[in-house]
Formats: sequence, structure tokens, C-alpha cells
Amino acid sequence: MEVISIGLLGLGTVGSGVVKIIENHQDKLMHQIGCPVEVKRVLVKDLNKERAVDIHPEKLTVNAEDIINDSEIDVIIEVMGGVEETRKHLLAALKNRKHVVTANKDLMAVYGSELLTVASENGCDLFYEASVAGGIPILRSLVDGLASDRITKMMGIVNGTTNFILTKMSKQGSAYEEVLKEAQELGYAESDPTSDVEGLDAARKMAILSTLGFSMKIDLDDVKVKGITQITEEDLQYGKQLGYTMKLIGIAHREGEKVDVSVQPTLLADSHPLAAVNDEYNAVYVYGEAVGETMFYGPGAGSLPTATAVVSDLVGVMKNMRLGVNGKSAVTPQYPKKLKEPSE
Ligand code: NAP
Ligand code: HSE
Repeated sequence: MEVISIGLLGLGTVGSGVVKIIENHQDKLMHQIGCPVEVKRVLVKDLNKERAVDIHPEKLTVNAEDIINDSEIDVIIEVMGGVEETRKHLLAALKNRKHVVTANKDLMAVYGSELLTVASENGCDLFYEASVAGGIPILRSLVDGLASDRITKMMGIVNGTTNFILTKMSKQGSAYEEVLKEAQELGYAESDPTSDVEGLDAARKMAILSTLGFSMKIDLDDVKVKGITQITEEDLQYGKQLGYTMKLIGIAHREGEKVDVSVQPTLLADSHPLAAVNDEYNAVYVYGEAVGETMFYGPGAGSLPTATAVVSDLVGVMKNMRLGVNGKSAVTPQYPKKLKEPSE
């Protein structure tokens, strides 16, 4: 029986979750795709580091070419993070006709258009569901489930780390630095958490969401950003006394061809459904002209929730392999081919 071989770039929080799901859900994967899946090689930085999963040391490498140039590897899963070096690896992998699944919003918010073009030119899938809102299948819902509608507004909590921090500061009176450290230990925060707390991570996700939702190319520079670093415990307690909860909210709004995308700390009335989204959870409202209001809710960060999205993308790639439609699938979250500039 044929085996699908995976090359994994990164074995940290998300990479370990991917290995666990592939191992523990083999039956489900077999049922979905009809053959076993094996993680063949894994790129890491430090060969001697203790790992959260059992992995044969011979599978580990510090040389990306060992994976990208391995003719037996069908799919590359990129969960190493970073932008420039990772872009080079993925471009090389796609040119070697390897399908790619990535959780990397930093990369997709900047180079998504380029990478998707190269993927399509080489008949490859490039899926990136885990890059926005962790375990919530929001990208497929936008490009597939809501494909017939005209989306006019999206609003939500798309960063787990800041939601975790604001929840703990507000409900338990915990100190900012202490909760940030906890979010790092739990694997929610980025390797450099500045992008979480300064709102940049949420801005990247809003750029991806609005590009897909509005079928316009929205760049990171188009997103107005304010993070939570200036928020004090007193601000949260004062809001609470008045019946408000502070959340880092991303809003993308379209009126005609005019688009406005922003991320900022926002006081929500306690009765607002987003005020009840706590800890590392995310939620995104999507308003469509025909469907009206829909809400997507779930864990926005963490090992297994994020890895679920990654491995589900892998299943999508493998289903396409069986049908021979890689790079052509209607549910592939493509960036729009005809790029429109957002108006001022
Ligand atoms: P992480 O825990 O820091 O793991 C990164 C892994 O990549 C580590 O195994 C590291 O190797 C390896 N790595 C990093 N740079 C490398 C390099 N230059 N060469 C070789 N190996 C390298 O990160 P993570 O939290 O799993 O996140 C991975 C990606 O998923 C990021 O793009 C992140 O934004 C995204 N993401 C994360 C979450 C989450 O909840 N954590 C959710 C959604 C998306 P060593 O182990 O040897 O250091
Ligand atoms: N650091 C990110 C967050 C990980 O906290 O939301 C999930 O993308």
C-alpha cells in the first residue's frame, strides 16, 4: 500500500501537535484518504533539544535541503515560523512540486500572493487554514461555505495570547508580565511575543481574512494597528465597574469599494457576545449581504487545536491528490487573481 510521506519544518508547539495527530488519528486519516501517512523527516534548529513527542533521532535534520530535495516526500508542513528563510524553503519546495501546508500568518500576510501563484504554476496545493484563528476553520468557511455571498464586515478576536492576557488581568487581577509569561509557557505566544501584544499578529490575520472575505488584496500596511501594551489593570477594572470588558478587536469593513481594516483595544458592553470570549479563545463575526450575521468560535492558539487545522489541510491536499486536482481545487483559499487596491 502506498504511504504518503511528510516533511515537517519545525517540531515546536504546533509541529509536536501535528506529529501527535498523525500518529493518534491514523485510522481516521486512513478512512479519509485511503493510505497511511508518515512523517519522514523533520527540520529543527537544535538536534539535542528534548522533544514533546517520541521521534526517531535519524528523522531529525538541521538542513532544509534534506527535506525539500527528498523525492519521496509528497507534502511539506511548515510550522517553523519566520519569514525570509521560510519563504525561500517554500518557494523551493513548490518548484520541486511538493504540496505545502503552513500555519505561518507572518509569511502569508506578506508573501501569500507570490507563494500561491508559484503553487498554482506548479500544480501544487498551498493551504494555510491554521494561519488565522487556530482551530477555527474560518478561511474555508469564507472561500467555500460563504462563496455565494458578498461579505461586508468581519469583526472579532483573532489573537489568543492577548485575549488570554486581558482575561486573566481582568478576571483574576493578574499582572501583565506574569500572564504573558504563562501564555508563552502554554505555547500561545509567538517566539517573539511583541507581535502578539503590539497587535501585529492580529493585523496579519485581519489582512488575510479581509483579502479572502472581500476578494481584494489587503496588505499589512493597509491595517491600522494598536496593541495592548498601554492597557493597565486600572483601565480594565474601571471598564468593569461601568459594565464593559476590554478586548483586542479586529474590524474589517467594506462599503462599495472602500475598505477599512483595523486592530485596537476596544471596550465592549458585557452583554456583547465577544465580551464572553475568554482565555486563548477566538471568535469572528462575518456579516454577508444575503446570509446576515454568522459567528465562528473556538480555540485560537495552542498545540492540538492549531495542529487540527494543519492536519485537516493535509487531508485536503491528499484528497486532491487522489482526484488529481491539486492546485485547482474550488475550496483552495486562493488570494484573488485580479488584485484591487483598497480605496483611501
Ligand atoms: P515554536 O514552538 O517556536 O517551534 C518552532 C520550531 O521550528 C522549533 O522546533 C524550531 O526548532 C524550528 N525552527 C525555527 N526556526 C528554525 C530554523 N531557522 N531552522 C530550523 N528549524 C527552525 O513555534 P510554534 O508555536 O510551533 O509556531 C510555529 C508556526 O505556527 C509559527 O508560524 C506560528 O506563528 C504558527 N502558529 C502558532 C500557533 C500556536 O498556538 N503556537 C497557532 C497558529 C499558528 P528547535 O525546536 O530545534 O528550536
Ligand atoms: N500567537 C498567536 C496567538 C498564535 O496568540 O493567537 C495563534 O496564531
